Amino acid sequence: MTAELTAPLFQPITLRGMTIPNRTAMAPMGRGFCINNAPQADAAAYYAARAKGGVGLVICEAAGIDHPLSADNPGMPVMHGEKVLAGWKAVVDAVHAEGGLVVPQLFHQGMLHGGGNPKVPMDSLRPSGTIGVPGPTSYSPEFIERASAPTKPMTEEDIADAIAGFGRSVKNAVGVGFDGIEIHGAHGYLVDGFLWGASNQRTDRWGGDITQRASFAREVIKAARAEMPEDMPLIFRFSQHKSSNYAARTTESPQELEAMLAPIIDAGVDMLHTSIRRFWQAAYEGSPLNLAGWAKKVTGLPVMAVGSVGLGTSADDTFMKVGAEATDDNIARLMERFNDGEFDMIAIGRSLISDPDYVNKLRTGEKPVPFAREALATLV
Ligand SMILES: Cc1cc2nc3c(=O)[nH]c(=O)nc-3n(C[C@H](O)[C@H](O)[C@H](O)COP(=O)(O)O)c2cc1C
Repeated sequence: MTAELTAPLFQPITLRGMTIPNRTAMAPMGRGFCINNAPQADAAAYYAARAKGGVGLVICEAAGIDHPLSADNPGMPVMHGEKVLAGWKAVVDAVHAEGGLVVPQLFHQGMLHGGGNPKVPMDSLRPSGTIGVPGPTSYSPEFIERASAPTKPMTEEDIADAIAGFGRSVKNAVGVGFDGIEIHGAHGYLVDGFLWGASNQRTDRWGGDITQRASFAREVIKAARAEMPEDMPLIFRFSQHKSSNYAARTTESPQELEAMLAPIIDAGVDMLHTSIRRFWQAAYEGSPLNLAGWAKKVTGLPVMAVGSVGLGTSADDTFMKVGAEATDDNIARLMERFNDGEFDMIAIGRSLISDPDYVNKLRTGEKPVPFAREALATLV
């Protein structure tokens, strides 16, 4: 890898009023180090170190919205409450002090509530009272079995409460000084639970075809937008795979993708962030384009890709403890796709856990510290 090779990544991109100095982002990664759902001083230092290391946009780990069942364990952050918001303010200030930009990722665990804590009851929000179709997963068989018992489908009131919770949490995030908002519509959590046909079998206005199933996401985006300054960008993250089933697919064709994204974008999205496990993974048969490439093609919006930058093993391999992590100098392949215009930004996950200077090293061609699973044990 050479500095010349990666130079195209080091160009700015503007989303509404936010100009990101380069095309890299830190992927959102839950680390489990919060205390009582509040980020601590170690989190501020951790995120600031990645900003100092050259990351264009820091996307913080998923934070539960203001709803009692949004996050199932105290190590996970939320986005409400005085102490928690003080913790987030310290994160934002630390990243800004390094000249960085930072957004939170807001979510509600929905049907996967309990996966991180066997003690919580299985009474969280599920569009149809089901977890859909489980498949390859890093969740324990006990959780999947417990979660597979049907629960109550969400009522109109539950839906309205959750949407309002997103709105209040966006307001809180804006209040502590974040530069934008990412809504987590991926991996089978609440928003994705509505998008996925297997977990949304509703026959009312929140279910049906893929456009109808996008109604909840659309209303969440509207509620978020209503709390955001006009010049603040909103990023929407989505995926085919679910944490409970890495083989699942929400859309089977670019036409379905377009039908899903149209109402969501209309509500006020500035960038799509497609969660894929490997940036070279083709989304649909018959074309090498990844999900980001297709999202860009069918919507015209700027898109962010992600997945195994610098690594030969995917994040689910890490979670399922499949073999050892293999570093892979796949940067030439990454640049080929970026230069072809397949995606506008690239998020980097695990490589940034082990090396806060990963992006600066991408720029200079210096060799990074390789990712090892053991790095997940500390927050540095
Ligand atoms: C420890 C860890 C925690 C993660 N937590 C989140 C999360 O909170 N929200 C999310 O959307 N994705 C999460 N992911 C997925 C990452 O954002 C990213 O998409 C994935 O790791 C692939 O990127 P990588 O191959 O560069 O690591 C997590 C991944 C890891 C490894």
